[in-house]
Amino acid sequence: MTQPKVFVTRRIPEQGLSKVLAHCQAEVWPEPLPPPYEVLLEKVKSCDGLLSLLTDRIDANLMDAAPHLKVISNFAVGYNNIDLPAATQRGIRVGNTPGVLTDATADMAFCLLIAAARRIVEGHQYTLSGRWKTWEPLGHIGMDLVGRTIGIVGMGRIGFALAKRCHAGWDMKVLYHDVYRHEKAEQELGARSVDMDTLLRESDFVSVHTDLNEKTKGMFNEACFAKMKRNAIFINTARGPIHDQKALYQALRDRVIFAAGLDVTDPEPPDPKDPLLTLSNVVIAPHIASATLETRGAMAEIAADNLLAGVAGQPLRAWVNPEAAERSRK
Ligand code: DGY
Repeated sequence: MTQPKVFVTRRIPEQGLSKVLAHCQAEVWPEPLPPPYEVLLEKVKSCDGLLSLLTDRIDANLMDAAPHLKVISNFAVGYNNIDLPAATQRGIRVGNTPGVLTDATADMAFCLLIAAARRIVEGHQYTLSGRWKTWEPLGHIGMDLVGRTIGIVGMGRIGFALAKRCHAGWDMKVLYHDVYRHEKAEQELGARSVDMDTLLRESDFVSVHTDLNEKTKGMFNEACFAKMKRNAIFINTARGPIHDQKALYQALRDRVIFAAGLDVTDPEPPDPKDPLLTLSNVVIAPHIASATLETRGAMAEIAADNLLAGVAGQPLRAWVNPEAAERSRK
């Protein structure tokens, strides 16, 4: 029996890669940078399945260039790089990797929060540059965390996991803003569902955990930052375009807010000339929230399972568009 043909856009951890290689006629893009769009277009032409990364743009044009494509398995929980309606319309199954990266991402949000609050990166650079001359009573002053208020925008799995850490470990009050009520957060953490203005006004720390869509794009803009406390800290581990990067730069530069911690930027990577990179009150990580051994391994396994199920016309383990089954490609 001939094996399904698949393209994998980057080397992924063995837990997933070995499954793909065992069951498919697979080509794995060997480079450290993503395949250029034109190359990807060529590669998927004869494929039954595609294992993609969040850095690959998967649009309708690409789907049309691949008439046999049955499944797109994204190695991420977010899938804003894929034109989902176009995939569903064409009967192409789309999978993602939810659940397994919840704790790693919440940990990262908390790392950024504490790093920004206590000015850790700035202090590290100060030490390395030899500017540390003495203990300074007025130097390096940051923010306390205990007993503060955390505002979670998007109380999903990751938002809840961060709120739990902040409430249980640091005795923080939890506010959240979401289209859905989160009863568990309300019961277990005493979380209060509030409108966006209240959240911005009352929170000491604001952490965003929504997905990127037309409604959330640019939602953290100049007006939003102006409504936050002067000592507020903004955290984004979701997607860069959710904040307006120029407005964030200005808010940090003019001390409209105290600091920011970002695992995501817009664009990624940021332009080396972006003035945001010159500020000392922002900590920026290179989109590494899920980068732990266990988490990336678990993501690889789910992504492989999704790919294998999809090429076989079976339900995906983590299926974003089950309605695509009605239009499945043969
Ligand atoms: C995701 O999964 O969407 C993260 O951004 C990367 O792990």
